[in-house]
Amino acid sequence: MTEARSPLDLDGDTMRRLGTRVAHIVAGHLATLRDQPAYVTLSRAEAQRLIAAPAPESGAEFDSLIAALQERVFPYAAREPHPGFVAYVPSCPTFPAILGDWLATGFNFFAGVWPVAAGPNALELTVLDWFRDWLGMPEGTGGLLTSGGSNATFTAIVAARHQAVGEDAARIARLVIYTSDQAHSSVVRAGWLAGLPRTQIRLLPTDAEFRLRTDALSDAISSDRSSGLIPLAAIANAGTTNTGAVDPLRAIAGICERERMWFHVDAAYGGFAILTDRGRALLDGIDRADTVTLDPHKWLFVPFECGCLLAREPARLKEAFQIMPEYLQDVQENGERVNFADYGEQLTRYSRALKVWMSVSYFGVAALRDAIDRAIDLALFAEQLVRAEPSLEVLAPAQFGILCFRAHPVDVNDSTALDALNESVNAKINAEGRFFISSTRLHGVFSLRICILGFRTTEKEIEGVVAAVVRVATDLR
Ligand SMILES: Cc1ncc(COP(=O)(O)O)c(C=O)c1O
Repeated sequence: MTEARSPLDLDGDTMRRLGTRVAHIVAGHLATLRDQPAYVTLSRAEAQRLIAAPAPESGAEFDSLIAALQERVFPYAAREPHPGFVAYVPSCPTFPAILGDWLATGFNFFAGVWPVAAGPNALELTVLDWFRDWLGMPEGTGGLLTSGGSNATFTAIVAARHQAVGEDAARIARLVIYTSDQAHSSVVRAGWLAGLPRTQIRLLPTDAEFRLRTDALSDAISSDRSSGLIPLAAIANAGTTNTGAVDPLRAIAGICERERMWFHVDAAYGGFAILTDRGRALLDGIDRADTVTLDPHKWLFVPFECGCLLAREPARLKEAFQIMPEYLQDVQENGERVNFADYGEQLTRYSRALKVWMSVSYFGVAALRDAIDRAIDLALFAEQLVRAEPSLEVLAPAQFGILCFRAHPVDVNDSTALDALNESVNAKINAEGRFFISSTRLHGVFSLRICILGFRTTEKEIEGVVAAVVRVATDLR
């Protein structure tokens, strides 16, 4: 027996000193983002040369470790919350949200079962109820916070599968899910993970505005039924990653009701736009969903990782996921407790609710709504600038903060040449590091894509990005 204090057990003063140091570094980083590049990267070989080392047998001074990280690790990354980061789907956490995350980690709450974290679990129920209320879903809707949107959609499909066919392997093999050719890859992967045959995940055609065509949905369902397959679920997009398009949610809800199918909405990208008037109008019908994927680490300004699944009938999640090992007999649900581990795949899970609660409570919903509105406006502003520039072309109008466009010099009409030019523009702008943009393909055409989500982005950055595209495209010719 030893009564000596473990060397791992730091005293209060030391912890305060180290923690303060880290808080200063993060605050300093965020406060000086405007003076930093948006994007810096290294090849794997270069990064490993800087960083790889065997685990040390003895420890080192904290300050020397921080210095090593500041010199060799932190510089070589995209700055997600940078005002010029308009690539992919940026994540721009508020500082109170970051602090909420630190608190959750510092207290190390175990948010898998109720009794050991009743306070944090009640906070998660509160946050879920805020989301439910924002989306207009009925009381009794529940769910859980997840690692991200991918996990939320996976959880939904497993629940839908379980409700439809239980464990009947022969019937699982006949299930089909329907989504659009604009769906996020996580939807396809969720279907695979849920055990559906890969060929039975239908990526249906979209209209000129990249929205799922409901006639194609109805046709596919009846054709599959007549071939003996079992239509399981329609997965509608509420803000596609490519263009921000929203599928006709209300019409799809009607089809699902008629066909007795599960209606899931992937609102990972666009869901929190419901806080704005424009978003609410576009997301009409989302309240009809059986399940909805949301991503607070996108437009609710909390740090990675934070997704959410809302389920109109949370019991369906429980039926699919609950498992009662004997070593957890002390903490089983008793009717009033909610064990979040019973609603998804994670047993050990930290309290993601803290970061959401902290940020929303610190700023209030009005400030978050304004930030979302502002991002939507900035994309519209970008569209105006692009339309005013004869050497640029809009490929998909601004929606929900996303604009797709390309350089299109008036004298170039060859599609291969245009694709090659824009590919080079994308690479060159990112290599310069001031802005970070990305690209996609729309109906096969190479498109530059900007996604404005962060609250630091202003008209100045938008003007800068558009001017950079014009300049780089001209230089490249
Ligand atoms: C529309 C959409 N759905 C799902 C996802 C996947 O979410 P996550 O990366 O949080 O797993 C994304 C990510 O960008 C997305 O844009």
